[in-house]
Amino acid sequence: MSFSVLGTGMYVPPKVVTNEDISKLVDTSDEWIVQRVGVKERHISTNETAAEMGYKAALEALENSGVAKEEIDMIIAASVSGESISPSVSCMIQNLLGVKCMAMDVNAACSAFVFMLETIAGYFARGKVKKVLVIGAERLSRVVDWDDRGTCVIFGDGAGAVVLGEGDNYIDAVFHVRGGSDIIDIPQFIGKSPFFEKEQKKPYIHMRGQETFKFAVKSICRDCKTLLKNHDLTFDDIAYIVPHQANKRIIDFASVMLKIPEEKFYLNIERFGNTSSASIPIALDEMNRKGMLHKGDLLLLPAFGGGLASAACLLRW
Ligand code: COA
Repeated sequence: MSFSVLGTGMYVPPKVVTNEDISKLVDTSDEWIVQRVGVKERHISTNETAAEMGYKAALEALENSGVAKEEIDMIIAASVSGESISPSVSCMIQNLLGVKCMAMDVNAACSAFVFMLETIAGYFARGKVKKVLVIGAERLSRVVDWDDRGTCVIFGDGAGAVVLGEGDNYIDAVFHVRGGSDIIDIPQFIGKSPFFEKEQKKPYIHMRGQETFKFAVKSICRDCKTLLKNHDLTFDDIAYIVPHQANKRIIDFASVMLKIPEEKFYLNIERFGNTSSASIPIALDEMNRKGMLHKGDLLLLPAFGGGLASAACLLRW
């Protein structure tokens, strides 16, 4: 026993920030951002927290699944941009929903959606849960250094959610972690202890772009190929690859290296930017509502990012 997806939801804040808007803040251009990243615009929160966006995505997913909030046994959420370390984002969403179920967060940055699915598969396997809400909710505009043109052009805010129920449609996943803060780092406030001697690094996203890029392409290719090989499948058996939306060029490279057409990848980064843990559930919700997903379709969901961590899972719709 693992689970099946019963419904999907998403929420993005109404304010749209275009590349032209960003080029008024830092020395960049629409042309550069489109060519190097593939983003035209992103949604940026003006007054909503990560948890509030996650709550709105959860409501959409509940409605789409036909599951009542009282039926949910557990909320599992991820965010690298929640407003507090405690309460966790999942606890804040539980509070907003007004339910009493168990709630916890998983921290695996942009790969977190797949880490959450694997975690929750264990709860289903042990018969501990029947219905679960899985949510990625990010206000990355809070942790972006708006003076750093190498990062502020990439990210966006938003939340995606799925409702899971008992079933056998989560097939398998692979994970890789290469721990360290040298390539991607989002430091917290280190405190004011008079005894601690290290210097505070700015509490924003620090990223070595080219190393991240190479890690991402390598991870997608390796993780997708491993899953297919382990299950005696080929890319022809896969309806769609729904990758973490980090950078369109990463997908371009992966599609060339894997020798599969780019149409096999679902891409929406042009409109949302990189929304970290929210990007895969947002993409799934769009595909679901467009009627692109059919019962029995096999999907590959590869993700990668801070940690460094990468993951991919094979899911039957
Ligand atoms: N606008 C204009 N120029 C920019 C720029 C911007 N927004 N950001 C960087 N540049 C400049 C640099 O200053 C540099 O200028 P220089 O040659 O005069 O020194 C030049 O562009 C090339 O910089 P570089 O960092 O080598 O560019 P790049 O081609 O690697 O692109 C990224 C930068 C960040 C877009 C790219 O590395 C990337 O997308 N990496 C992966 C990021 C990612 O996916 N992160 C999320 C992981 S989950």
